[in-house]
Amino acid sequence: MKQKTILTAFGGSSPEHEVSVITAHQAMAALSENREYIVKPLYISKSGRWLTGDALLDLKNFENLKNLEKSCSPCHFSLNEFGLTVLSEETKGFFAKPIVTRIDTVLTAFHGSNGENGAFQGVCEMFNLPYTGSNVLSSALGMDKVIAKKLCGNEGIPVVDGFDFFEADWAKKPDAIFAKADVLNYPVIVKPVHLGSSIGVNVAKNREDLEQAIELAFRYDRHLLIEKVVSPLMEINCSVLGSDSRCKVSVCEKPLGKEELLSFQDKYLAEEGSKGMAAADREIPADIPAKLTNSIQDTAKQVFTLLGCSGLARLDFLVDAESNKFYFNEINTIPGSFSFYLWKESGIAFTLLLKKMIDIANEEHQKKSRQIQSYDTNLLSKKAVSGIKGLKANK
Ligand SMILES: Nc1ncnc2c1ncn2[C@@H]1O[C@H](COP(=O)(O)OP(=O)(O)O)[C@@H](O)[C@H]1O
Ligand SMILES: [Mg+2]
Repeated sequence: MKQKTILTAFGGSSPEHEVSVITAHQAMAALSENREYIVKPLYISKSGRWLTGDALLDLKNFENLKNLEKSCSPCHFSLNEFGLTVLSEETKGFFAKPIVTRIDTVLTAFHGSNGENGAFQGVCEMFNLPYTGSNVLSSALGMDKVIAKKLCGNEGIPVVDGFDFFEADWAKKPDAIFAKADVLNYPVIVKPVHLGSSIGVNVAKNREDLEQAIELAFRYDRHLLIEKVVSPLMEINCSVLGSDSRCKVSVCEKPLGKEELLSFQDKYLAEEGSKGMAAADREIPADIPAKLTNSIQDTAKQVFTLLGCSGLARLDFLVDAESNKFYFNEINTIPGSFSFYLWKESGIAFTLLLKKMIDIANEEHQKKSRQIQSYDTNLLSKKAVSGIKGLKANK
């Protein structure tokens, strides 16, 4: 059996850097249980350096990031003489040649910012590499709470009432924003459009609170979303795995926050901060009526397909705990811990889940490769160019 090299890519300059390190380590441990795979790490430091090396395989080394960086080798993607993408590692010594490793599939384990918003996925596309998770556009849609909500709202998927605005709108017409918030009725919730992990999210009970919450949220993003507060709130999430219209949905979970909002502290730093999303307090499967479970699961699949997602995602819903009315809140195209704890309860072990994600990545890549990407005729050949006006040679 020829082993496949799975490049696990993680870290990045994101507020969720540490969470990504945990997700990647959980995944690398599970991947190495499968003899089909050879695990290779690609760590992007907080400052954006691309690094690889065995030191990245031990979570303990992440306690001192400076030392870790020193013991790793800088690396980048390049093409070998056959046109195949390789990871090229710098080696020390004046005449030393770089070490090159052929990559079969990239397992994207970033959370937030450039790793989850389509930017890194775009780099993989440029290098013709199969990668797990959603494509460039779907990743970007998943990272934009406003556009995702608008697309879903247009299809009749229930979303919470709200409005969005940019920093320039706030600077020019704060009164118009206050007036819109009055229409929603307090309390309202203020959120940065592109962030995650509840960073910059705050509830405002009146205009004064609102002003403060807006100012705070603008420290993180130039685009904000204000919504009506769902209360009493119950949060229900589930994960979807698949591509196009062929997808499966996991059991539902009910995260149990200690505070009013599930804070960054609750989600990631609880229990000594080592277990990522898998450590947060939650009820699995969520103890809610079967009808609600089914409606949420069906809606999750609908949103996944509507946004053109593939691989694995987690979809989060807000439920009015009194009426059981539910709203689609957001999609995470690379969820913390790859939501493995939800799939485990759905009968799919983590090693199998990763295999399915990798298989989907390869299938999606093959689908793209079958399409015509370029033409054999050179449109810049002498004959073709001779008819183009404005070129020096044709004057
Ligand atoms: N409309 C709302 N009503 C009540 N609580 C909300 C609402 N929107 C978000 N929240 C709370 O804030 C948290 C973070 O908001 P969310 O939209 O999920 O952003 P993030 O991307 O930061 O996770 C949610 O998990 C939920 O607890
Ligand atoms: Mg959320």
